[in-house]
Amino acid sequence: MINDDQEYRQRIERELARLGISQELIAQKNLPFYREAQDLTTAETDTEGRQFMMTPATANAWSAMKAAALQDGVVLEVVSAFRSIERQIDIIRNKLDRQMPMETILTLSAPPGYSEHHTGCAIDINTPGCMATEEEFERTDAFRWLITHAARFGFTLSYPRDNDLGFIYEPWHWRFSPDGAA
Ligand code: DAL
Ligand code: ZN
Repeated sequence: MINDDQEYRQRIERELARLGISQELIAQKNLPFYREAQDLTTAETDTEGRQFMMTPATANAWSAMKAAALQDGVVLEVVSAFRSIERQIDIIRNKLDRQMPMETILTLSAPPGYSEHHTGCAIDINTPGCMATEEEFERTDAFRWLITHAARFGFTLSYPRDNDLGFIYEPWHWRFSPDGAA
């Protein structure tokens, strides 16, 4: 396990170096480090066959929350759930390819090894008629419903306005914790 852990950390360090993200920058940002979840289940498959993986407990909580929202006439959709290290690297590479400066990228995306999405407990939520992962989600009935009810299902908003991690405000990104605490 210690070896596994060392190997994992070394792999992340290599990937960060390849992306041009220095260890100093990582230290400065003080981001929590995450392992990739191993115990995952397919919570949903969308119409294009894309699978959304979550830990079993997160999938149960998500399904219960989605059903409760629907009973109140609110449609919740998952747009991103578990992300592997590879996927997080691709997301950052796409932004680099579009000439986005790393400083800006890291306000939008966590470096590989530092995304809550690796845990299988974080989900990005949207509702019909809203652009996915945009701040306008804050002005939807779905967001208002989540603010009132999500905690009952163990979900909390990870990145409120002016969060200490330096990420932009993400009203769509919610994290499940069994005890309801972030
Ligand atoms: N957008 C969040 C910060 C992530 O990339 O995990
Ligand atoms: Zn997210």
